[in-house]
Amino acid sequence: MGVYTNCESLSLALSPLRLSKKIGFVPTMGALHYGHLALVKQALNENDIVVVSVFVNPTQFDNSGDLKKYPRTLDADVTLVSQLKSKVKVIVFAPEASDLYKGYVISKKYNFGNLENEMEGKHRKGHFNGVGTVVNLLFRAVLPNNAYFGEKDFQQLQIVKKLVEIEKLPVNIVGCPIVREKNGVAMSSRNKRLSPAQFEAAILISTTLSEVKQNFNRMSITELNKLVKERFFKNLHLKPEYFEIANTKTLKTAKRKRKNNTYRAFIAVFAGEVRLIDNMALN
Ligand code: PAJ
Repeated sequence: MGVYTNCESLSLALSPLRLSKKIGFVPTMGALHYGHLALVKQALNENDIVVVSVFVNPTQFDNSGDLKKYPRTLDADVTLVSQLKSKVKVIVFAPEASDLYKGYVISKKYNFGNLENEMEGKHRKGHFNGVGTVVNLLFRAVLPNNAYFGEKDFQQLQIVKKLVEIEKLPVNIVGCPIVREKNGVAMSSRNKRLSPAQFEAAILISTTLSEVKQNFNRMSITELNKLVKERFFKNLHLKPEYFEIANTKTLKTAKRKRKNNTYRAFIAVFAGEVRLIDNMALN
């Protein structure tokens, strides 16, 4: 296993291999957990070399406190990745911001065809410009054949698919299912910041999404929105920021169900200062 901390050394290591080897890429912000490792395992099964990047991207945070508190555990991340059993070579790429951004650490402005203005985009100003900018820079540093993204960040996954069209990048984007804790809570690096009581309370997020899914055929969207409000009402630990049922392709908020369309439920919830997101396919 190799660890590279700048674009030049990574490029030198990868360039002799490019012609004959399929390169898989898993971009992350570190503090790795089994949700990330599931992406890495899938990449190991489908490629000859796998690059895992660990980079806490400043331009995608709209809240400087959140950026400061984001866990940074590179040594533990390298150990976790090195313990995966596979014959495929794994490389950890952990660049400095000044090296990856080559100068000013600022976002490019993207038009992702309105995907960026829904849900997370509405509540985290500039977030997807930051994600698009860093993923574009990372793709250009790694030049992967396949890149793996989790459905945990479903809107991000759709935006990255749009990004490769806009930037004309020859990368195949692979979406991977959400990995959950035994109690149903979606795995997240932010879960480490939850108190035991908040973590216990967070079970309500996935059970409510499952309830919405179970009732999707027999209840209207208005009724489902009301049901979700009731479930979180008076909860001492959890404050929902938004709940939306949205069209899977356009991510536009659905007011009523239409035939032949597919829908997903999306939620963002604050547990104290910690912001948690989750989503689930409904049909
Ligand atoms: P990060 O939050 O570290 O997530 C890295 C990848 O792991 C993302 O594709 C995310 O969707 C996936 N992931 C996280 N938790 C998961 C879970 N429980 N199940 C399945 N997949 C999960 O997303 C980012 O970093 C950044 O925005 C990044 C793309 C690296 C750009 O900075």
